[in-house]
Amino acid sequence: MNTLEAIGARRSIRKFTDAPVSEEEIRALLEAATLAPSGMNRQPWRFVVVQGEKCAEMVEVMRAGIAKLKSQGVNTGSSERTAEIMAGAPVTIFIFDDVEMQEDMIGSFPDLLGHIVDIQSIGAAIQNMLLAATDRGLGTLWICNVFYAYEELCAWLGESRLMVAAVSVGYPDEAPGPRPRKSVDEVTRWVG
Ligand SMILES: Cc1cc2nc3c(=O)[nH]c(=O)nc-3n(C[C@H](O)[C@H](O)[C@H](O)COP(=O)(O)O)c2cc1C
Repeated sequence: MNTLEAIGARRSIRKFTDAPVSEEEIRALLEAATLAPSGMNRQPWRFVVVQGEKCAEMVEVMRAGIAKLKSQGVNTGSSERTAEIMAGAPVTIFIFDDVEMQEDMIGSFPDLLGHIVDIQSIGAAIQNMLLAATDRGLGTLWICNVFYAYEELCAWLGESRLMVAAVSVGYPDEAPGPRPRKSVDEVTRWVG
């Protein structure tokens, strides 16, 4: 599969088979992630792989975090559905930014720009991971609904760094068609 074929074939997968994913496969995805470009070659991505019996524990932690928010009257969107999807995946990889999470971490405009650079680098790494998975016949779901249980999941993972996303990985048990996209003309303005 060439690059453009992988870009075109990738889908968000929300139903996985029970087949386990080998450590070799996971390592191949992480290798692809680490080949991404990064600002100043800082390589700010850090990965935590949750697999096997720990997946069920992780989902319970996430559900507890969501339940706490709901009890406070917060709209938790589609996060419960996402937790259910994660429960059906053999592996979930959490992606952190190698910076300590602090409430006041964006102290100044240059600080903000520095964070934006690193988050872009991490986005590139995640997309590399997704495309490598597509190439290898694996399905993935890029997840930010983990933010509804941000503190609970970070505490459970023993992480104080900034959590950016999670990616669930497994062999697809569905073959969804392409989701709608805005046309290039809708999202582009040409200058000159
Ligand atoms: C940053 C980001 C966060 C996402 N978070 C979730 C999520 O929490 N739960 C979910 O089911 N899908 C999530 N998705 C998947 C999107 O819903 C999906 O990419 C979009 O609907 C387009 O579908 P496609 O990926 O099959 O092209 C996320 C995607 C991105 C890029």
